[in-house]
Amino acid sequence: MLKQLRDLHAQALDELDKVDNSRELELWRVRHLGKKSTLTEILRSLATLPLEERPKIGALANEIKKTLESSLEEKKKLLQEALLSSPQKSARLDVTLPGRALPIGRLHPTTQILNEICDVFKNMGFQVIEGPDVEWDYYNFEALNIPEHHPAREMFATLWIDTDVGGKARLLRTHTSPMQIRMMERERPPIRVIVPGRAYRYEATDATHESMFYQVEGLAVDKGITLADLKGTLFDLCRCLFGEERKVRFRCDYFPFVEPGVEVAIGCSGCDGAGCRLCGYSGWIEILGAGMVHPDVLARVDIDPELYSGFAFGLGVERIPMLHYGIDDIRLFYSNDLRFLRQF
Ligand code: DAH
Repeated sequence: MLKQLRDLHAQALDELDKVDNSRELELWRVRHLGKKSTLTEILRSLATLPLEERPKIGALANEIKKTLESSLEEKKKLLQEALLSSPQKSARLDVTLPGRALPIGRLHPTTQILNEICDVFKNMGFQVIEGPDVEWDYYNFEALNIPEHHPAREMFATLWIDTDVGGKARLLRTHTSPMQIRMMERERPPIRVIVPGRAYRYEATDATHESMFYQVEGLAVDKGITLADLKGTLFDLCRCLFGEERKVRFRCDYFPFVEPGVEVAIGCSGCDGAGCRLCGYSGWIEILGAGMVHPDVLARVDIDPELYSGFAFGLGVERIPMLHYGIDDIRLFYSNDLRFLRQF
C-alpha cells in the first residue's frame, strides 16, 4: 500500500506538470483529490486496516494529500500569472503605436472675442457686470427716452413675453442698453462699466441678422466727461481689436438716449475700402452706436445733468470675428456645427 501511495503521488505530480489551463487543472483536482479519488478512498478505509499498518499509511496518505493540495495552489497561481501576461503575446500589442487622442473642448468664438473685449476695458479701469435677458419695458424703452408710440420703437423688433404684468410689460431685451439704467439706479458716479450679454430681436434671420446675438454695452458717468473721452476710448478699442493700421470712422447718428449720437465704423477688411459684398459696397462696416448720455436719462435716475455727464456705447459682438475671419453668415455662430466651431 505504501508503494501504491508513492506511485500515486509521483503520477499525480507528473500529470500536474502537463496541465496548462484551468479547466484541465480542475479535472486533475477531481481525479486526485476529489471524493472518488484513490487517495480519498485510501484515507477513508484507514479504519479497516490492520492496527500496526495504520499509523504509517495514515501519515503518508495525509502528507501526500497536503503536498498535492499545495502543488494545486501553486499551479493555480502560475496559470493566473500566465493569463495576465499572455494577451500581450496573443494580441500582438504594439506599444510603439501613438495613443488614442482625447477630444479637447475649446471656447466658442463669441466667448473668445467677449473675453478679449472685456480685457481691453478692464485695462482701462472698467468694471464688468451682467444683467437680465428678460427685461421690463421701462428699462428697455421708457427710461431710455423711448416711450410708448415713439417711432424709435420701430428700430427694435421686439419679442414680448407678457404685455400686462400688473400694468407692466415684459420682453426679451432688444439691446444691452437697459443695463445703463439699472447701473445708474444702483450706483452713483463715477461709473465706468461694461455689460456683455445677449440681445434678442423678432426678425427673420439671414446672413447678417440673427434673432439672438451678443452686445457689449459701455457706460461712463462722471464730472467733466466729454465727447473727446468717448472718441478716445472707442478709438483705443478699435486699435486693440483691429490693429493700428485699420481705418476708423466716427460720425453722427441718432439714438433717443444719447445726445449727440454717433456711429463708429471701421474700414472693410474684405476690400480695403474699395467696396464689396461684406460691406454693402460702402467700404465701411458699422460696429457700434454710441453717444453722450441724454440729460433726461441722467435726470430720470437722479443724477444731476448740470453736474455730471457721461458717454455710452453699444457694440455688436459677432461682427468682429466676422470681419476678422471673413465669416459671411452670422447664423453659423449658433447653429452648433462643429466643423465651423472647431476652426477657432
Ligand atoms: N442699443 C443700441 C442698439 O442696439 C446701440 C447703442 C447706441 C448703444 C448708442 C448705446 C448708445 O449705448 O449710446 O442699436
